[in-house]
Amino acid sequence: MADKIAKLSIDNKELDLPIYSGTLGPDVVDINQLAKENVLTFDPGYMSTASCESQITFIDGDAGILLYRGYPIDQLAEKCNYLEVCYLLLNGELPNPEQKKQFEHTITYHTMVHAQLSNFLNGFRRDAHPMAIMVGVVGALSAFYHDSLDINNPKDRETSAYRLISKMPTIAAMCHKYSIGQPYMYPQNHMNYSENFMHMMFATPAERYEPNPTLVRAMDRILILHADHEQNASTSTVRMAGSTGANPFACISAGIGALWGPAHGGANEAALNMLLEIGDESRINEYIKKAKDKNDPFRLMGFGHRVYKNYDPRAKIMRETCHEVLKVVEGHDNPVFKLAMKLEKIALEDDYFIEKKLYPNVDFYSGITLSALGIPTNMFTVIFALARTIGWISHWNEMIGDPNRRLCRPRQLYTGPTQRDVPHLEKRN
Ligand code: SDX
Repeated sequence: MADKIAKLSIDNKELDLPIYSGTLGPDVVDINQLAKENVLTFDPGYMSTASCESQITFIDGDAGILLYRGYPIDQLAEKCNYLEVCYLLLNGELPNPEQKKQFEHTITYHTMVHAQLSNFLNGFRRDAHPMAIMVGVVGALSAFYHDSLDINNPKDRETSAYRLISKMPTIAAMCHKYSIGQPYMYPQNHMNYSENFMHMMFATPAERYEPNPTLVRAMDRILILHADHEQNASTSTVRMAGSTGANPFACISAGIGALWGPAHGGANEAALNMLLEIGDESRINEYIKKAKDKNDPFRLMGFGHRVYKNYDPRAKIMRETCHEVLKVVEGHDNPVFKLAMKLEKIALEDDYFIEKKLYPNVDFYSGITLSALGIPTNMFTVIFALARTIGWISHWNEMIGDPNRRLCRPRQLYTGPTQRDVPHLEKRN
């Protein structure tokens, strides 16, 4: 229902555009009727577009607030584990003790993947980037699990969601093991979600892996912090693909592809590489200068955000988690962490970064943390994808369950040639 009306005047014709208010956040102007008037809106990068209605995640970018289903991210990171957060995102409420037990049991008992999937992995080159393998393997899941692909059946959607949440750690670890030439490790049903993931990453058939509880908790927190982030580029990609009626595995694979870019999920890998390249505090100013130079493509990785014009609340928690992990694995003196804190301080005092409201985002400290956990750099974005799967599937499910769902099909401002005739070959320049 419209709360207010915006008036738009085009060629002396007055249009009444309804304005809707959500429970939080900016009002939105409903421009649906414009196409009938043969007028479109123009918004490259969707800077001013609310692409859908959603009840899952809210961000206040100016205040640095992030809520999953109304709960602040810092409280969730402190009081819940990742699977509780998955349940919350998927179902709208936190689980009670019985629901939690049941959900953990269901996810645990879906963690194995079809044995033939290893044949599929064998087709990849050993030196393939794990993200390249993951895009392919997740897309291929629809070939292995086609008994749950009726997207109009809520039970099938639920089964696909469970399969995705539970199999992603197994697949992520398989991508890693494949690229380093070690045998795959089977999931262990007595372990919790993050513990099991670390076991599949680091154990070998020849040697047990005893996960350190602080490190397991850090991994779990990393997953919570990356679990959802409203209509970011990869989630919007999943929704776009899903609007065609494509199966959930294909849609999530599309999301993984979108996440890979360095402007999005690939930034964690890029941020650590950048810190390693800077190498020493004495070179920070040189890199800050490069980041500010319009003619230089270099940008400070892990800095800036489309929505946050304040400190990303996830970055704060990530910095604390990073510190906790470093204390366990190597004492207080990690040079990259010290360099990152120094770089953050210098950037936050620099006029360019102040004016443009560029603050550290979640990816600034996640790379150092993952690295301290023993995760190789090329797996960082894979872990982001593993964590974000619950967000993607929750948004996909919300969209498919909406009776007013429409095919997503944007239009354009066409500036190409007007109609012309095809000349004969010999008359073409
Ligand atoms: C994620 O959307 C999400 O929610 C994503 C995410 C999620 O959880 O899903 O939060 C995860 O993707 C985090 C972002 C990771 N990316 C990086 O850390 C890469 C470095 N940052 C950027 O390139 C950039 O800040 C973006 C891509 C994140 C945001 O880009 P926008 O919103 O399109 O902003 P912009 O590029 O137009 O920047 C505005 C200005 C520009 O200068 P002017 O043209 O106005 O002079 O700020 C400058 C930019 O050049 N700028 C930077 C900068 N980021 C922006 N300058 C130097 N270093 C930077 N990092």
